[in-house]
Amino acid sequence: MTTDLPTLEQPTRWQRGLLSGLIGVALCLLIVLLWPQMGLTASIFAGEKAAWYLVRSSGVVAYLLLSASVLWGLLLSTQLSKTYVSPVISLALHNYLSWLSIGTTLVHASALLFDTYYAYTFGALLIPFTGPYMPFYVGLGTLGFYIMLLTTLSVYVKGYIGQKPWRMLHYTTFLGYIFATLHGIVAGTDAALLGTTFGVSGLLVLFLTLYRILNRH
Ligand code: HEM
Repeated sequence: MTTDLPTLEQPTRWQRGLLSGLIGVALCLLIVLLWPQMGLTASIFAGEKAAWYLVRSSGVVAYLLLSASVLWGLLLSTQLSKTYVSPVISLALHNYLSWLSIGTTLVHASALLFDTYYAYTFGALLIPFTGPYMPFYVGLGTLGFYIMLLTTLSVYVKGYIGQKPWRMLHYTTFLGYIFATLHGIVAGTDAALLGTTFGVSGLLVLFLTLYRILNRH
């Protein structure tokens, strides 16, 4: 039905710039939309709780970006995205989403250093299961972050390590996603509010993973 859509072979520098810009705008929109929902507008200037609000809002944005990256990766590997978007653009988008999620997670974790309620140190942020608040579930977040970083960086050494080992390594993304999801659900203050977000994301990832397994060539 849509197979006659024109496909682009190589994204030009202009297209890449446009894509980054669009992602940036989407991100800003997302923050603006989430802001009032979390009661931030009234109390962001209250000062002492500002860091906590930043931890929560950036955590949600990081999770949405991670979900988008995982889902787009699945659309890529199932080839479902191929009809609409060229593989080169798809791969670039997958990569951008991963880096954006990593960047937002860095904001999310670093904001804890300014939290006035829990005394977080760099060590507690970097070494899993050592923090003052829910060490196990926050530790899962730290592990999830390391997995995200490792799998995203591994793209650049794919040629050296070989396709098969790289693929095996890339599968650990699922573990990172599961860790981040459990982390958000249990450690997050807004878990009840975010139930639909976690549910929809989890179901979509599950559905596309099953589709991928059943349609393996
Ligand atoms: C070094 C790594 C990480 C640390 C130290 C960390 C720490 C925390 C802490 C302390 C909370 C509880 C905040 C609250 O009081 O509600 C939290 C919540 C959350 N985190 Fe993380 N996290 C990390 C990584 C991640 C990653 C990788 C993701 C997803 C990509 C993520 C997503 C979330 C979400 C969605 C919440 C719930 C926010 C809410 O309820 O409003 N975190 N994190």
